[in-house]
Amino acid sequence: MSKTYNIAVIPGDGTGPEVVAEGIKVLKVAAQKCDLTFNFTDYRLGGEHYKATGEILPDRTVQALEKADAIFLGAIGHPEVKPGILEKGILLKLRFHLDQYINLRPVKLYEGVETPIKNKGPADIDFVVVRENTEGLYAGAGGSLKYGTPDEVAVQESINTRKGVERCIRFAFDYCRKRDKRKKLTLCGKTNVLTYAFDLWERTFNEVAAEYPDIETDYAHVDAICMWMVKNPEWFDVIVTDNMFGDIITDLGAMVQGGMGIAAGGNINPEKVSMFEPIGGSAPKYTGKGIINPIAAISAAQLMMETLGETRAASLIESGVIKALRDDIEDVGAGKMGYSTSGVGDLIAAHIDSI
Ligand code: IPM
Ligand code: MN
Repeated sequence: MSKTYNIAVIPGDGTGPEVVAEGIKVLKVAAQKCDLTFNFTDYRLGGEHYKATGEILPDRTVQALEKADAIFLGAIGHPEVKPGILEKGILLKLRFHLDQYINLRPVKLYEGVETPIKNKGPADIDFVVVRENTEGLYAGAGGSLKYGTPDEVAVQESINTRKGVERCIRFAFDYCRKRDKRKKLTLCGKTNVLTYAFDLWERTFNEVAAEYPDIETDYAHVDAICMWMVKNPEWFDVIVTDNMFGDIITDLGAMVQGGMGIAAGGNINPEKVSMFEPIGGSAPKYTGKGIINPIAAISAAQLMMETLGETRAASLIESGVIKALRDDIEDVGAGKMGYSTSGVGDLIAAHIDSI
């Protein structure tokens, strides 16, 4: 019997709508193959909508998004809107309000994709970052005193709760077990300097680890992780870390796996609604040209299927991506693919259709 999913779509700004369209194209083909039905509903949010209406994230939209089975997001960010307004008002607000406490970011080098790391290939680069997604420096705790004067004081504090840290670490252990690859979980922190926050992380990590004797554990400071991700990426299987460090190391991860054009992420609430997105931004300079790589959005759609438990649809999408990257696409960079944005979507859709 056909299973139906209601998917809320936020195409957003810049190249967001272009790449989301390709993700939807691919999802539709996977749906046919797997006897699934997707109802897509568009929500207009982002810089253009804000400029036209003054609305950032209306309550009615939040209420509608809460009821969806999943959210598919293109990009949020506009060159004419002051940084922070849309990011905090839409993206972060949704992550927080929907309590999407995990940001799952796979770093996988596919065959046919060039990594800037010399002498490393697909066998060496295949790990996943589990980033805490609702706390840390992103919680917005702090403030300014004597703003704009020579005596100005700015405080921005990192909030780490036992509950928030523990649920993230538990998710990472479970994910590592389910992934069933090297079964190694690395905690990324800064226990030598951030002695309050990462003491909590380390204690919690060690306590939870006792319940997972089948998972090998490891610890590295965030600065060292940056070094090892470049020098020995094969050491990593799953990395768990806080919000800020996770933000930073996953941009490095995106480069290691070949570029922003193929890096996908999932903002996950395992009990409620999750939101999937390409992790690159709105790329204003490529907007409307049909040259941006949609694979990050297509892989975000794959992550959505995986998270919804539709493993066959997920693996079909990945097979299509693998074949396109290995056999067809010249380079993953915008304008260098040998195909247009929709050309890449067509290619992957056709591969899936032929499976
Ligand atoms: C990301 C982005 C966001 C973040 C910004 C746009 C708020 O960089 O998803 O990694 O910092 O989380
Ligand atoms: Mn980021």
